[in-house]
Amino acid sequence: MNPGDLYLQKRISIPEAIGKIQSHQSVGVAMAASEPPGLLTELGKHRDRLEDVSVWICLPMGSYHFVLDPSMEGHFFIENWFYGAADRKVHSQGRTSYIPNNLHQAATRKLYGAKNRVNVFLGSATPPDARGYMSLSLGLVLEKQLIEVADIVILEINENLPWTLGDTQVHISEVDYVVENHVPLPQFPPDVPSEAEEAIGGFIAEMIEDGSTLQLGIGGIPNAITPFLMHRKDLGIHTEMFTDGMVDLYNAGVITNRRKTLWKGKMVGAFALGTQKLYDFVDNNLGVEFQQGKVTNDPNVIGKNYRMISINTALQVDVYGQVCSQSIGCRHFSGTGGQLDTHRGAQLSDQGRGIIALRSTAKGGTLSTIVPVLAEGAEVTVPSQDVDTIVTEYGVADLKGLCVRDRALALINIAHPDFREQLKEGVMRVGIVPKFSVPVAWRDKK
Ligand code: COA
Repeated sequence: MNPGDLYLQKRISIPEAIGKIQSHQSVGVAMAASEPPGLLTELGKHRDRLEDVSVWICLPMGSYHFVLDPSMEGHFFIENWFYGAADRKVHSQGRTSYIPNNLHQAATRKLYGAKNRVNVFLGSATPPDARGYMSLSLGLVLEKQLIEVADIVILEINENLPWTLGDTQVHISEVDYVVENHVPLPQFPPDVPSEAEEAIGGFIAEMIEDGSTLQLGIGGIPNAITPFLMHRKDLGIHTEMFTDGMVDLYNAGVITNRRKTLWKGKMVGAFALGTQKLYDFVDNNLGVEFQQGKVTNDPNVIGKNYRMISINTALQVDVYGQVCSQSIGCRHFSGTGGQLDTHRGAQLSDQGRGIIALRSTAKGGTLSTIVPVLAEGAEVTVPSQDVDTIVTEYGVADLKGLCVRDRALALINIAHPDFREQLKEGVMRVGIVPKFSVPVAWRDKK
């Protein structure tokens, strides 16, 4: 059968597609900007027909009834490995739970773990070309792995999705059903950087030399640093997430990817999340290579890049150097995503560096983000054994190889000045450092 006829044969309506899901099944969903909004909106409408369906998601963009509505209890349970705003809101209702993992292992650990079935995969793709190939477009973290293992594969076809290149192709013969829903893409504009974020951007830019390859994580700070890199030459990108800031650097001639070790001449990433500017940029762009998350985020692959610099952000860091980026105490906030993968990978690289940058305070300056010990229940995203460089708007703390006393000193020196004395006393009080033989003030003058 020719590919066009095969496509028409597999095309069904959105309600019919969700009708393929049965009670007690497990549903895997494409993540972030590649989530299928039509199918996910429909899912909650099948509540009365479905019981005990587990839905496996990551960084959802939309606000869907099957997630938000308390009456979904017993019908859908959400397993999520990176919370978005909606999941944070409903976590306390007990219908959602976080899956701890690393991005490069996200699919593998789930599929080969104890609950290893994905009965139905719900994803998105571009319309097919004349040969029947579609592009998985904005998401390749685990989507292709799920297509390979799911019993039923359903793709939502959206002509607004960019045709991205790399390992993104899927053929109509590999898919069971397609539905059509040509809606606008989710927009995720970067925040305007605060003064503190600009200061952090300045410090980080000083650590990035010409010819470096960068990973920029999710959150305000990684985006805030891009304007500070405009004078650099021949930067490269090897990241999990493509962002708007990278487009600005490319258009300014700063990113050339010319001096990269791997995929020379190409930006490499696993998913794209930003505004239409980014989606237009990645469309049919031979200079942008999408690879699966198991490849882009394998620390051993990342580490092969020369001068690989990873830049991620966090919520709290304690004086051991334990980094918490995913919870506020016991309240789960986001996920590890690729933070530990890239932090480790950068340190395997010749001349590489793993940077965690955070504002020195939160909640309008009332809380220090540098603390003696992490808040009770905080989840460690980067363990103290792996931590490299911490940056705040007050400077840079290079923690590798330092004993805990010296880590505490280095971190107190980049804490907000209003909290430094209190931090020092707190660290001594709990006995992490019983006595600072070198006064913090002396260190300040060095
Ligand atoms: N104590 C209490 N609340 C804190 C806090 C602290 N130490 N630090 C931050 N917060 C609050 C902020 O006030 C803000 O609250 P609000 O939403 O009510 O304003 C909220 O937490 C988010 O903080 P913010 O710094 O604005 O977040 P961000 O959008 O810049 O994202 C992370 C920062 C760390 C949450 C985000 O980068 C993340 O989830 N990272 C984890 C994984 C990762 O980096 N992976 C790599 C890419 S896949």
